[in-house]
Amino acid sequence: MLTKTKKDEKTFQEDSTTGRYWITTFGCQMNKADSERMAGTLEKMGYIRANDELNADLVLYNTCTIRDNAEQKVYSFLGRQAKRKHKTPNLKLIVAGCLAQQEGESLLRRVPELDLVMGPQHVNNLENLLGKVDLGNQVAATEETFISEDITSARRESSICGWINIIYGCNERCSYCVVPSVRGKEQSRYPNAIKSEIQKLAHDNFKEITLLGQNIDAYGRDLPGTTKEGRKENTLTDLLYYIHDVEGIRRIRFATSHPRYFSKRLIQACYELDKVCEHFHIPFQSGNNEILKLMARGYTIEKYKRIIENIRLLMPNASITADAIVAFPGESEKQFRDTLKLISDIGFDQVMTAAYSPRPNTPAAIWQNQLSEKVKKERLKEINELVETTSKKRNKRYLDNIESILIEGLNPKNASQIMGRTRTNRLTFVEIPNNSEFKFQLGDEINVKIKEIRSFSLTGELYK
Ligand code: SAH
Ligand code: SF4
Ligand code: F3S
Repeated sequence: MLTKTKKDEKTFQEDSTTGRYWITTFGCQMNKADSERMAGTLEKMGYIRANDELNADLVLYNTCTIRDNAEQKVYSFLGRQAKRKHKTPNLKLIVAGCLAQQEGESLLRRVPELDLVMGPQHVNNLENLLGKVDLGNQVAATEETFISEDITSARRESSICGWINIIYGCNERCSYCVVPSVRGKEQSRYPNAIKSEIQKLAHDNFKEITLLGQNIDAYGRDLPGTTKEGRKENTLTDLLYYIHDVEGIRRIRFATSHPRYFSKRLIQACYELDKVCEHFHIPFQSGNNEILKLMARGYTIEKYKRIIENIRLLMPNASITADAIVAFPGESEKQFRDTLKLISDIGFDQVMTAAYSPRPNTPAAIWQNQLSEKVKKERLKEINELVETTSKKRNKRYLDNIESILIEGLNPKNASQIMGRTRTNRLTFVEIPNNSEFKFQLGDEINVKIKEIRSFSLTGELYK
């Protein structure tokens, strides 16, 4: 999560701090949001951010285990720090996140240099856990626990766009997925706690918020006031209406949606509520009904298509993005082609793709019909090529359009360009006009005429 800057020892004021910390974040937005909260805790404790991983006094890896390669990456990072600890015994070494939860105490045995292994449900408890480490303990905190509201302010990476967890965990049982076993049962936050966090962000000049949950449509089903029959009072839709009036916030997003629960009422709310952006991330995973059934996803392709149709009926230019898995156990060539066909039929703006990876404690991992690495590689290559051309085709609709761009910063590769995103979440670069009249601040919304399209980004000029 933290960008590496050049080593500069002189900027560090040794006596006024507890030490320097470094956090590397792997995985999804939820992990990024958790890292921001842990960074907030460390700064409250007096730590300051290190400018190099190799001179930090506390190194925290917030890990992901969604696929085997994510897991292996963490081990190679850890090996380096474990070695460093032999020369610098005061170094505190922490593994947090989903791999920590998966491995628990066995991680302490595998990497004895570790001080603390902590699962995602313990993020709010970092200070306490570090207290135990200071007493000389090697600590593993992975028991299932109630996630209490955090009173620590997150140390956010952006000053404009904020992530807000609204539901932790996942109660689904997709046959390939490790998330339910590492993130635990669904726990929704109360609407008033969410709203006050948004109000605080608005007060701090944030303009955009993204509500987060692994299965965000499940929001509220564990809260009081929610009934099994009929209208629920604490659904994601109700939450959107409830938070919409927070003054100062101009854009609201949410992720990740599950096709099983994506309701017409939600689509109507997104249409009615001005601040809710026209971007929907709805993973479909496979374009074939038999595979979807084996994945235990709980919907068919027909249902998925109906959702997209209903969105497009009200918001024809909405951006639709998704995730897909190729080479699921037993996936035939024809079934793989169905996934390709769905991508062309829908015309996605972007699809995040992955080859199936067997995960511990998941049903599909022990099925006998696993596909070879060769097939996985070939299918991944083919789908990625299709995704790229589809995105580019889809981006054509932006050409010569006037889009509203929220300024998030300068293009890191070209400081003469502003960087921001459309409401549909397309990254857009804008040449800064060569006259002194144009003044801008981060968080401003500007109108931009789109002049150039690429597969995953746009370039435009200021439009008055
Ligand atoms: N909650 C979201 C996604 C969670 S994980 C949903 O239900 O869609 C993010 C993505 O990783 C998934 O959408 C899926 O495409 C991918 N993924 C999850 N487990 C995987 C596995 N075992 N192998 C390959 N990809 C996987
Ligand atoms: Fe995993 Fe399925 Fe839950 Fe998504 S909904 S996190 S894919 S189990
Ligand atoms: Fe990875 Fe955990 Fe997110 S496994 S994708 S970091 S929920």
